[in-house]
Amino acid sequence: MKALRLDRLLANLGYGSRREVEGLARAGLVRLDGQALRDASQRIPLEPDLSARMTVQGEALDPLPGVCLMLHKPLGVTCSHKEVGPLVYSLLPERWRRRDPALSTVGRLDKETSGLLLMTDDGALLHRIISPKAKVSKRYRVTLARPLQGDETAILASGEMMLEGEDKPLLPVEMETDDPTHCTVTLHEGRYHQVRRMFAALGNHVDALHRDRVGGLALPADLPAGEFRILGPGEIATVFEG
Ligand code: URA
Repeated sequence: MKALRLDRLLANLGYGSRREVEGLARAGLVRLDGQALRDASQRIPLEPDLSARMTVQGEALDPLPGVCLMLHKPLGVTCSHKEVGPLVYSLLPERWRRRDPALSTVGRLDKETSGLLLMTDDGALLHRIISPKAKVSKRYRVTLARPLQGDETAILASGEMMLEGEDKPLLPVEMETDDPTHCTVTLHEGRYHQVRRMFAALGNHVDALHRDRVGGLALPADLPAGEFRILGPGEIATVFEG
């Protein structure tokens, strides 16, 4: 079992500098199973239930490194530091922005796309999800500016559709029509602005876009926009199913 010095563990979780967390420990503000841990140099085994057993200033310890969460990304929030506007990181507790390893988004959603966004500090997991080999599907609810013509499902399913500026056809995309201006598409790859560019190539325009599923993991109906939930190992596994 991996173990870390208490000051290193808490500093890496964003609780302060090593000197600051040493002060917290000395003041009796770091507790394990109710007992104060006053020696910041002591090594703490990173047991899976540590966050439930340790408190800092009376509050449960933040999740240990290796965290994966799902965020219901609202409209108008960006995944990229290069874009203007509030970042998805601003929706997480302030301290979490100082974590090392840092949390990253698993792929991206456009600023004007809402829905299920995964975030993790586990680089290997991130790469397993976004790897083209994994072919993790992504499902989007699409609102279109103009009524569907009727041939879109077949064109998207053909595996021959080309996007402007690209030289490889898109993998087949599954499309279900909900009504003339609403459909659901499932992608098995993730190209830049793929859904918007697909419908632009079909002579339409995406007015609204919402992702409700990544692999077998669905955005829960009771998770409001702007809020997040930590995923357990079973939920993470569902990403690779379906
Ligand atoms: N396709 C898009 O065009 N935008 C997204 O945010 C996701 C998929």
